[in-house]
Amino acid sequence: MQDQSQPPTPSSARIVPPARLGRSGLVSSRLGLGCAGWPRQVSHAQAVEVFRAAFDLGIRHIDVAEKYGTEEAVGRALKDAGAPQDMVLASKVGADEQHRFTADYARMSVERSLKLLQVDRLDILHIHDCGAKHLEQVFGPGGMVEELLKLKEEGLFKSLGMATWSLTALKAAITSGVFDQIQTFHAYTLLNQQAAQEVIPMAKARDLPILNNGPYAGYILMSGAVPDARYQYGPAPAEVVEMTRRIEAVCARKGVSIATAALAFSLQNPDVDVTVIGASSADKLRERAAAFNAPLTRADFDEMLAAAGGMAPIHTD
Ligand SMILES: NC(=O)c1ccc[n+]([C@@H]2O[C@H](COP(=O)([O-])OP(=O)(O)OC[C@H]3O[C@@H](n4cnc5c(N)ncnc54)[C@H](OP(=O)(O)O)[C@@H]3O)[C@@H](O)[C@H]2O)c1
Repeated sequence: MQDQSQPPTPSSARIVPPARLGRSGLVSSRLGLGCAGWPRQVSHAQAVEVFRAAFDLGIRHIDVAEKYGTEEAVGRALKDAGAPQDMVLASKVGADEQHRFTADYARMSVERSLKLLQVDRLDILHIHDCGAKHLEQVFGPGGMVEELLKLKEEGLFKSLGMATWSLTALKAAITSGVFDQIQTFHAYTLLNQQAAQEVIPMAKARDLPILNNGPYAGYILMSGAVPDARYQYGPAPAEVVEMTRRIEAVCARKGVSIATAALAFSLQNPDVDVTVIGASSADKLRERAAAFNAPLTRADFDEMLAAAGGMAPIHTD
């Protein structure tokens, strides 16, 4: 229910189009709001403001995970923001404290997520950060997938996803036939497009939606090649800083920031159904969402990729 005690978010154009998520029948939005870090860093009132701005823009996809430690804050803020009925809420279950993906942990974790998020059912439940070495635990007899399919049957969530950096695990999810979407991470950005080589075409051939996380490559494609630039959330290697500098030069000629180009690159790909970003304030979210209006064509992105001169390193196993 809408909380009438809070002033309404200033109206802004509803620029985020809907995204139909394949056979699940869910309809979310081309841009999703990720809740990995920022809900821990802002007040409850500010989190409510960010969600209101998101809904006002047309964002209907909210991405969180048990591992982020933000589910409780997100649950409270969504309630006070008056989350719309058609919001698609995604959370994730990963490994337990012993780094094992188990059936028991899956059930416990999903039940806890529902409680923290204050909902009876999740729209999407992803398996989180599964690597090649976990495939037996996840897909084997008595493993996590088997249990999650029971939970899905019991109505605890509607749609199963695989959200990971591991292209090997994403391929396993696609070929298993029991996943409803996959979520790529840093494998489709201006610095690395490895997901486009095999994983995205494989998923599309089976009508599986692609959710793409972290188009800023954590965070150098947001900051640009600044002295303390970070890539995949750690100090950026010199070669990645150089690649970014060359992409920035193309962006400067096109009159756009590298952050706008980085998000627009994911948004313009018709095979990417939802792109997920974070934003710690309503203004930052509105500014980032304006990438929908960026005057960039496929040829401009090709020029940026050519300037990068190759792909930055990522983990894919
Ligand atoms: N395996 C997976 O499925 C997976 C992996 C990663 C992420 N995700 C999802 O995708 C979402 C988006 O990921 P993301 O990587 O774009 O962003 P993120 O982890 O949500 O982080 C974005 C936030 O980082 C802040 N930030 C920007 N530059 C920074 C810097 N140099 N140092 C520290 N913080 C900085 C930004 O703050 P300001 O807004 O204040 O600028 C922004 O709010 C996540 O929230 C999560 O939901 C999923």
